[in-house]
Amino acid sequence: MIGAGTMGRGIVQLFAQAGHRVHCFDSVDGAAGKAVEFVGGMIGRGVEKGRLGADDFERLRGRIHAAATIADLADCDVVIEAIVEDLEVKRALFRQLEAVVSPQAILASNTSSLVVAEIAAACAHPERVAGLHFFNPVPLMKVAEVIAAVRTAPAVVETLRTLVAGTGHRAVVAADQPGFLVNHAGRGLYTEGLRLLEEQSASADQVDRVLREAAGFRMGPFELLDLTGLDVSSKVMASIYEQFQQEPRFRPSSLVPPRVAAGLFGRKTGQGWYAYAGDKGDVKQLPTVSPVPALPAELKVWVAPDAADREALRALASEAGARWLDHPDPDALLIVQPWGRDATSEAIALGLDATRCVAIDPLPGFGLHRTLMLTAVTTPAMRDAAHALLSQDGTGATVINDSPGFIVQRVLATIVNIAAQIAQRGIASIDDIEDAVKLGLGYPHGPLAWGDRIGGAKVLQILQRMQAGTGDPRYRPSPWLERRVALGLSLRTPEAARS
Ligand SMILES: NC(=O)c1ccc[n+]([C@@H]2O[C@H](COP(=O)([O-])OP(=O)(O)OC[C@H]3O[C@@H](n4cnc5c(N)ncnc54)[C@H](O)[C@@H]3O)[C@@H](O)[C@H]2O)c1
Repeated sequence: MIGAGTMGRGIVQLFAQAGHRVHCFDSVDGAAGKAVEFVGGMIGRGVEKGRLGADDFERLRGRIHAAATIADLADCDVVIEAIVEDLEVKRALFRQLEAVVSPQAILASNTSSLVVAEIAAACAHPERVAGLHFFNPVPLMKVAEVIAAVRTAPAVVETLRTLVAGTGHRAVVAADQPGFLVNHAGRGLYTEGLRLLEEQSASADQVDRVLREAAGFRMGPFELLDLTGLDVSSKVMASIYEQFQQEPRFRPSSLVPPRVAAGLFGRKTGQGWYAYAGDKGDVKQLPTVSPVPALPAELKVWVAPDAADREALRALASEAGARWLDHPDPDALLIVQPWGRDATSEAIALGLDATRCVAIDPLPGFGLHRTLMLTAVTTPAMRDAAHALLSQDGTGATVINDSPGFIVQRVLATIVNIAAQIAQRGIASIDDIEDAVKLGLGYPHGPLAWGDRIGGAKVLQILQRMQAGTGDPRYRPSPWLERRVALGLSLRTPEAARS
């Protein structure tokens, strides 16, 4: 292991626990020794908790050695590098390593953002060089990406895959493309979250809350950006966009640079999209949520005939004592449930009075947190009536401004579309895409399985309508998605030639 920082320490621990002998080197004097002590302490916790016997601890501890010089790594079969993220420094190290290790030794880089082939190109034997990308904290994030650069020998990829699998982590194989697999698949949540904010469709805390409570994400995009730090994330967003030759799907937001300039990095500076208190910036201060308005004494409700939740809405209206109408009478609240369209467009398409129209997202189950979307001219009285009605049964509701695809539809459709394009480009296998996203990003489902749950045709419709409504090519559907929907197949159906 070269580099005894955050990642190096975790990687040392992982391989020692899997039964390997590990030598650790760092260019800073004493850093490798400290890392060995640190890892010993981490492993020692297992003894304290009764999970590891004293003998096993000593044996495990004895496998980890601090190396005084790079020459001490001469008999290593695999060298993993996790030093500073700088191409020239990494290239110089790999060149130096080749002179030390055996001709069969594998050289792997833990780089997150560099092109592995550029590191490999510094070596006399680039076929032995690959990426081996772990996530922080290494022992807990149970996935690693094995990156096959253009000249990497298949046997090297296979050895690394087997090596990782032996630690209990899931090894996924990805091509040497920007963001590899996990950081590539993770773009949708951030870019679409920021787009919602740019369009003033919803506030950051509304986007986060809806995605957590209605879609099952552990954290929304703004909570995640605050955790990682906008100083770091903004560079990743810009770099992946540029490395993909300005692909519109990854276009970063103009909202970000002014916030970076102002130091609104997130938890580490006490202020990001949220304000934080506490020593470690661990107490998030939430903006106050406006109270649920009272239900009007007399309420007439009309629901569009094609609304997905029409029967559930009828039951709710009946419990609330509202009058259910079969025609959109002049003083009724008009409820619509569009897919991929904003409330204004839906009102116009159905010939409804937009001032009385409120849209409810049909995608999440009716029992989950509800998103209510206003047209550009919905009156406050109709907004409050809808908010009160939809909160009658104690289910939370968030009221947002016009947005094609509400919050959940557009974010999920974007995530599915990006994953479909990862599959189309052959960057990774379908199983690897699915597992990498679940383990690396913590999403409740793999993105293609998620698309199947929503229905490929629905995802395609959301994207097509968003593209038509906004004119933005970022929403253009991947051919992978289009073909499988046209054929009535699962989004996890592999390409014939690759299966
Ligand atoms: N931190 C993360 O969340 C994360 C996740 C995935 C990948 N990575 C990547 O892993 C690598 C390391 O990241 P980190 O967060 O552990 O960094 P870090 O700053 O915590 O540790 C880097 C270590 O490398 C040592 N070092 C620097 N130059 C060296 C050289 N030429 N030779 C030997 N040692 C040298 C430093 O002294 C330091 O101890 C980077 O390439 C980074 O992009 C980081």
